[in-house]
Amino acid sequence: MGIKLGILGLGTVGTGTVQLLQDNIGRHSLLQLVEIYRVGVKSLDKPRDVTLPQSVLTTDLESIVNDPEVDIVVELIGGLEPARELILKAIQNGKHVVTANKAVISRFGTEIFTSANRQGVYVMLEAAVGGGIPVIQPLKQSLSVNRIHTVTGIINGTTNYILTRMQTEGSSFDAVLADAQKLGYAEADPTADVDGWDAADKISILASLAFGGRINREEVSCEGIRQVSKTDITYANNLGFVIKLLAIAKKVSPTSSTLSVRVHPTLVPKTHPLASINGVYNAILVEGEPLGQVMFFGPGAGAGATASAVSSDILNLVARVGSSEAAPLDPLLGCSHQDYCQIAPQNELTARFYTRFLTLDQPGVIGKLGTSFGQHGVSLESIVQTGFQDKLAEIVVVTHDVLEGDFKQALEEIRSFEAIHSIPSLLRVL
Ligand SMILES: NC(=O)c1ccc[n+]([C@@H]2O[C@H](COP(=O)([O-])OP(=O)(O)OC[C@H]3O[C@@H](n4cnc5c(N)ncnc54)[C@H](OP(=O)(O)O)[C@@H]3O)[C@@H](O)[C@H]2O)c1
Repeated sequence: MGIKLGILGLGTVGTGTVQLLQDNIGRHSLLQLVEIYRVGVKSLDKPRDVTLPQSVLTTDLESIVNDPEVDIVVELIGGLEPARELILKAIQNGKHVVTANKAVISRFGTEIFTSANRQGVYVMLEAAVGGGIPVIQPLKQSLSVNRIHTVTGIINGTTNYILTRMQTEGSSFDAVLADAQKLGYAEADPTADVDGWDAADKISILASLAFGGRINREEVSCEGIRQVSKTDITYANNLGFVIKLLAIAKKVSPTSSTLSVRVHPTLVPKTHPLASINGVYNAILVEGEPLGQVMFFGPGAGAGATASAVSSDILNLVARVGSSEAAPLDPLLGCSHQDYCQIAPQNELTARFYTRFLTLDQPGVIGKLGTSFGQHGVSLESIVQTGFQDKLAEIVVVTHDVLEGDFKQALEEIRSFEAIHSIPSLLRVL
């Protein structure tokens, strides 16, 4: 008996997935049971890189999720609507779902998984984080015997590509972004990538799996890379760091169940395993007890890589559809989270900070900065005048681990000093 797929979307990932499934020799033999039964697109006239019978293609996506013949719906259209609505309809119709859509899962996961559990169907999302890197299923299964305390990822290829080129070429953010758009590594509207939203969607999903609870996406703090300048990259380099956009989910202390979940550009020591992840590649470092550290590395996007992840979900489902329909959901494949994880307010977290000040060239400015930080309980690792920009002195401060609230209060006071011209950068240090 064949397993009938209804695929929504035949763009980059949809095309890659159809190509992989059509070319199934030498892959897992269960894939031979898969039948590409319906494929939903926006335009029937568009030239395609795959050959499918005309009768398979349709622009009526609702007809696919409502078709009683379809066993598995594969959502690859992206965006929030109509993706959310189609996923929910598929679930209500008793169909398993595979999706690569991190935006919809991170925002509407609660609604989607509650509905899926009620209907006794699976929603699989291996491709939603890290493209081709298998990380969702390992977090659900092999790693879940550990007490995980930290997940740190470079999980947005576009920003990693931009930062890597800024680092190696000494180019500015704007120049590299424009070139990345020309080369197809950045979207025409790069907001979701460069402002960190895409990484925030993905770390919400990873945190949920690593810490066994739901994550309110709105509580995830998020800063992008627009403020990272080539000057900061040079200073960071001199101090022994590279700048990466990190997505971090961690327990605020070993005994606490409260989490810190955030995305921000970060100075990463050159010796850290994530420091050498360059270009469009992604990596996710998972730390827990008793395992220690394990790092997943690979292509975070692209037709073939993402198709590999989508098809692995299809394979997992094919292995189960066909077996007893009445069987309870496999807890290693489904989602059993009921409660929300508590996320600590940003001001209560500790972090190390790197800050660059432009000041008037007056005596005693460094002393005033040091005093203000000290009065707010912010202990400094280093404070150095690095040079001049036009007639302004440039001072770089690196703190020890300090309370974010204390640090921000000190900055508030420092901003009001007459000698302070501006604070062009404020970055965190891993
Ligand atoms: N691209 C990657 O490398 C990658 C990696 C990981 C995850 N993802 C995720 O995978 C999903 C798909 O991404 P993609 O890059 O493949 O997108 P894409 O190239 O833009 O393709 C989207 C497809 O969906 C169809 N579509 C969109 N809206 C539709 C609507 N309202 N009705 C009918 N069809 C509609 C389009 O039809 P037409 O072809 O007729 O226009 C197109 O075939 C997204 O959630 C994305 O975040 C992508």
